[in-house]
Amino acid sequence: MASESGLILGIETSCDETAAAVVRRGREILSNTVASQIAVHLPYGGVVPELASREHLRNILPVVRESLRAAGVGYEEIDAVAVTEGPGLAGALLVGISFAKSLAMALGKPLIAVNHLEGHIHAVLLEEARRAAELDGDAPEGPLPGRPALALVVSGGHTHLYLAEFAKEQGTWTYRNVGRTVDDAAGEAFDKVAKLLGLGYPGGPWIDALAPHGNPEAMPFTFSQIKAKVHRKDKPGALNPAEEVYFSFSGIKTAMLRYTKVYEMGASIEARRAALAGMENAGPADALPLCDKRTLDLIASFQRSVVDDLRRKTFRAAERFGAERVIVSGGVAANRELRVRFTAEAAERHVPIAFPSMALSTDNAAMIAAAAWPKFVMGDFAEEGLTAEPGLALGRR
Ligand code: KG4
Ligand code: ZN
Repeated sequence: MASESGLILGIETSCDETAAAVVRRGREILSNTVASQIAVHLPYGGVVPELASREHLRNILPVVRESLRAAGVGYEEIDAVAVTEGPGLAGALLVGISFAKSLAMALGKPLIAVNHLEGHIHAVLLEEARRAAELDGDAPEGPLPGRPALALVVSGGHTHLYLAEFAKEQGTWTYRNVGRTVDDAAGEAFDKVAKLLGLGYPGGPWIDALAPHGNPEAMPFTFSQIKAKVHRKDKPGALNPAEEVYFSFSGIKTAMLRYTKVYEMGASIEARRAALAGMENAGPADALPLCDKRTLDLIASFQRSVVDDLRRKTFRAAERFGAERVIVSGGVAANRELRVRFTAEAAERHVPIAFPSMALSTDNAAMIAAAAWPKFVMGDFAEEGLTAEPGLALGRR
């Protein structure tokens, strides 16, 4: 049973952010501490798993200590420790899990395992629950009853669509996976295209900042219709593969590479890469004067194509599955053009839409602590043998 305070310490180490947060009853963030490893991975243009694990090990204790300090909470006041079980990098996950397990044991408090993807969805639900509590002065433990929400989780590692529903009787959230990428994740495409064009890492924020300076209609890249490649046995209630939504982002990456070759952009890309590498803390504003019109048009067209593909497929799925509203979460949900174009389509269709605040869009531990709350209430605690699950899936198909 939930105690009065309902304080959950969340810990997240699935990729390249070491994060800890204290959240009360799944809706009130007392602290949200994130130590980013961007500087460590920057020279490699992507996350180096081995370095990520070491950085987590270096950062985990100061990050947890800081999150408790910022929350004004002592270790003994925590009601449970929640940790990301997967998906993610095995070595990175193991650091958070070992730490959380030991801490929970030492404090004599329960340990709760959270799926990172469920965490991203709860980044939105957390803020909705907080707003509802502010309006009502009371605490709804779940959303309004009704049809499920369609959640697009779009990040550096994932492009998934889920139908998310709160089962009041069981007190739990249930998920049904109705869409996924067959190759790269959308955020991965942002990162790889930014790298290809000699921009910084991670690429999403760079492309986001430079795209408004180009013409998004200059080069319309098209996404072909992707056929279902997987044939599942007919299980009762299983999703018909024809209904499942497929994304693919490796084709646009290749098209971009081809474009830079055809228009012989190699030398200017290398010059830009070298100029930015020579600057301390280079940001998108430094890249702007180093980009010609063709490059800016290419960046704007890439972003428009990816955003529109995500938008079209998400709203089509929302209609097909009778979703009551749309939730967009994960690192790419921080993209400004994505927010504008999804919001416009939602308004046109009269479908409510929600995004997390910017701070909760990318990886953080507040979303892990929030996702753990219904599990805490139901006494759904982790087994002693809990280990990292790098390929952990969310929900049934
Ligand atoms: O959720 P997240 O922090 O980590 C994963 O679980 O992957 O997402 C990181 C991803 C990276 O690929 C990054 O380039 C992308 O989110 N991203 C963005 C933006 N901010 C971060 N992509 C597009 N526009 C942005 N503003
Ligand atoms: Zn994530």
